[in-house]
Amino acid sequence: MQTIASGVQSATVIIGASGGIGSALVRRYLALGDCETVFAVSRVPPTSSVALSDTRLRWLLCDASEQNVKLVVDELVSSGLSLRRIIICTGLLHNDAITPEKSLDKLDPDAMRAVFDVNLVVPALWLAALVKPLRRATGSVIAVLSARVGSITDNRLGGWYSYRSSKAALNMFLKSASIEYSRRSPGVKLVSFHPGTTDTYLSSPFQANVASEALFTPDFVADRLVKLLDEVQPDGQLSFLDWAGIEIPW
Ligand SMILES: NC(=O)c1ccc[n+]([C@@H]2O[C@H](COP(=O)([O-])OP(=O)(O)OC[C@H]3O[C@@H](n4cnc5c(N)ncnc54)[C@H](OP(=O)(O)O)[C@@H]3O)[C@@H](O)[C@H]2O)c1
Repeated sequence: MQTIASGVQSATVIIGASGGIGSALVRRYLALGDCETVFAVSRVPPTSSVALSDTRLRWLLCDASEQNVKLVVDELVSSGLSLRRIIICTGLLHNDAITPEKSLDKLDPDAMRAVFDVNLVVPALWLAALVKPLRRATGSVIAVLSARVGSITDNRLGGWYSYRSSKAALNMFLKSASIEYSRRSPGVKLVSFHPGTTDTYLSSPFQANVASEALFTPDFVADRLVKLLDEVQPDGQLSFLDWAGIEIPW
């Protein structure tokens, strides 16, 4: 396998690029213009909301299977660009068949497996595929979209069993990964990021009791995250940070 060079030409990778926060990040990085290429990785083709005419945008289709994740990582490596920002924005809270559980009586094993698959297994596949290619990287950051509800300390309401526990599991996975990355790819910082309640498909059924000032636009969250990732340094640690850059207790 080739190694990603720490050269001057850099790229940003947004995984889950068709989602609300993912697509806002693609727009933000293209607007900033400080990287040569923005790789947008998604299960679906691009929509008109992203700047398709921008030649710095490369849209890579990926169904999130292990095989296709590896193929996409090979393609990223073969670009020869330094992958300075990799942001994994995949996540599942609800869909036509899945509703977050308010009580134990509502647990559905198939729904639970599906939520764990998207929230834990998919990011895990990316972290596993990237560790070797990033071994000589310097100043790179991998940020994974987690959620404050994955904090065990912060859990005062209960409920949302699958989503909460999949995000707690994601955080534990990232903690172990940060220890292995510090050995094998020490120039990479790992961040577990809580965006705050953001106006996207994922939060849309649950916004009724959210005050308007507490419901963020995807563009606001993208701007916060981009700035935050410019401030963190590779320190061999996993940071669990919210949109304001404040540490969240585990
Ligand atoms: N919105 C909020 O209030 C909020 C709050 C806390 C945390 N978060 C977290 O932020 C992240 C981004 O969420 P969002 O609000 O932008 O949600 P979103 O608009 O629903 O986007 C989620 C993206 O996840 C990917 N995805 C969904 N199902 C998948 C599957 N079965 N297999 C593979 N990928 C799948 C899709 O990306 P592609 O279609 O591009 O493949 C989808 O667009 C998630 O991890 C979420 O848990 C959001």
